[in-house]
Amino acid sequence: MGVDLSPAMLNEAQRRLTEAGLAASLLRGDLRCLPLASGFDGIFCLDSPLALILEDEGLAAALAAFHRTLRPAGVLVVEVYDYVRSLGEAKRRPSVARVRAPWGRILVNETHCYDQKAGQWEMTQAFTVERGGRQEIFTITHRLRIRTADAYAAAIEHAGFRIQALYDAYPGMHTGDYRMIFCARRVG
Ligand SMILES: C[S@@+](CC[C@H](N)C(=O)[O-])C[C@H]1O[C@@H](n2cnc3c(N)ncnc32)[C@H](O)[C@@H]1O
Repeated sequence: MGVDLSPAMLNEAQRRLTEAGLAASLLRGDLRCLPLASGFDGIFCLDSPLALILEDEGLAAALAAFHRTLRPAGVLVVEVYDYVRSLGEAKRRPSVARVRAPWGRILVNETHCYDQKAGQWEMTQAFTVERGGRQEIFTITHRLRIRTADAYAAAIEHAGFRIQALYDAYPGMHTGDYRMIFCARRVG
């Protein structure tokens, strides 16, 4: 079962499932009020969706929803980018990426702006997409909340979980950004 707020991402997930010959139920929903019955054995919240929840109340609501949805002693795995570590490094500088696709080319200009007071990181990506002799230009801005490992750990434990391990990678993952991977169990 997979949940995402974005219909486009759910379509992409369905495309990949079909390509891999796998089946799963995909559901549009918000992490802060997961539309699922309780009794799940595990929840995997991967690739940093919790950093897109800017307010602490929203983070608490998402973790409470995970707690409600898991069975007692169910497993929660939360992966978030470690922006605190990344901020000290080249990630703060503008970057350019050129990507070749089977159907054309993509140029991405990425700039970053860190609002220290709000603890937020704004990342703007300007895309130039060339496909079949046509060019499309558009910009996407992401606002991300920067939280320390201690802040995530405290929120996870406050929501009724016991953290069993904290990793910075798992086998086979694409690395390049610093990550924090919390493995926890529902208490009670
Ligand atoms: C960095 S992407 C990761 C996508 C996917 N999990 C993957 O591993 O490729 C973060 C995802 O979180 C989703 N998202 C952001 N806020 C959400 C929310 N409140 N509820 C559910 N999904 C959310 C976005 O639509 C986006 O697909």
